[in-house]
Amino acid sequence: MLPEFDIRPGIATLPASPIVEIANYGRSLGRSDLIPLWFGEGDVPTPAPIVEAGVKGLRDGRVFYTVQRGLPELRAALSGYLGRVHGVSVPVERITVTGSGMQAIMVAAQMLVGPGDEMAVVSPVWPNISAAVGVAGGTAVQVPMTLGNQGWTLDLEALFAACGPRTKAIFVNSPGNPTGWVMEKADMARLMEFARSRGLWVVSDEVYARLVYDRPAAPSFLEVSEPDDRLIVINSFSKNWSMTGWRLGWMVTPARLGPVLENLIQFSNSGVAEFVQLAGLTAIEQGEPFVAELVERCRAARDQVMAILGSLPRVRVQPPAGAFYAFFQVEGEPDSMALARRIIDEAGVGLAPGTAFGAGGDGALRLCFASRLESLKTALARMAPVLS
Ligand SMILES: Cc1ncc(COP(=O)(O)O)c(C=O)c1O
Repeated sequence: MLPEFDIRPGIATLPASPIVEIANYGRSLGRSDLIPLWFGEGDVPTPAPIVEAGVKGLRDGRVFYTVQRGLPELRAALSGYLGRVHGVSVPVERITVTGSGMQAIMVAAQMLVGPGDEMAVVSPVWPNISAAVGVAGGTAVQVPMTLGNQGWTLDLEALFAACGPRTKAIFVNSPGNPTGWVMEKADMARLMEFARSRGLWVVSDEVYARLVYDRPAAPSFLEVSEPDDRLIVINSFSKNWSMTGWRLGWMVTPARLGPVLENLIQFSNSGVAEFVQLAGLTAIEQGEPFVAELVERCRAARDQVMAILGSLPRVRVQPPAGAFYAFFQVEGEPDSMALARRIIDEAGVGLAPGTAFGAGGDGALRLCFASRLESLKTALARMAPVLS
């Protein structure tokens, strides 16, 4: 809170992200041997051809203001990509390049919710989503999934029941961060049908769509919708191509929203740096082998992490179907922030506290396993005494 400054109360009181809070704590200790597994990113840098394309763009002077909704060649490439990955035909008019998945989420929130409006959000979920709804002036109503022997499940009836007269949109993130839950196509179709019948928007965050372990790609709402449905699909270059620091994403919307998006982009970052977009174009055109490699690395890491965590008697964990997180409970440890601090202090390992992920997340810890096997093994060996 900054009472001495007259800023919008809802902004002044925004809660800090507990992930940032724990990372700040860990970094403040100055431990050189700290193994940070708290953020959603791997430890492999962006593939060389993508970097080269960005550098070439800079050298070629692609450094000026650009078209708000993205370079035509990148939008065309994204249209082709969605066709290849999901078997859908998405014209470029529906595609907008954004300065990250996060910006796409923010723009969606700005378009859909204001004071008095609600967005139903399937949780546990990445905290930035509810925060973006709050920044836009709306209220995020979290609808918790349940954890059973088969992993996380969403009760669609409970989700529908949470949609009241103030609800404007439903936010789904599948594959989910932090749970790794993957929504099946039949459930997507049911949800889309419900949204249609109630005139609600669906915002589908599909940034982990390629990170699934039992099929080439997770189902997309694009596969169960019509071009004019109230649907916004959020995507990002961050995870698939190790580009978290480049800040590049995209969104698919009904074509009619094009002029609105052009305005919102102009009035926020005024478009994404051209050399960054050129790097993104190379990612789409040449990045498939990297995605395949990343999935295999993550699969091996997932299996290792599950085997080790699963052998600790107090730990309850299910192998995630998608994304790259182990989201696990520790018996007798209801305070996840306190436990995350202890793991930093006693083991020198940085994990995200489950409390960050809203309803259904407390009492859990999130470990990002998109890292080298040796560092994961070292981290788990150091953590074992705390978790045993
Ligand atoms: C579920 C989800 N959506 C969106 C993003 C945003 O990614 P970026 O802003 O790096 O494109 C993330 C990043 O962690 C995420 O986990």
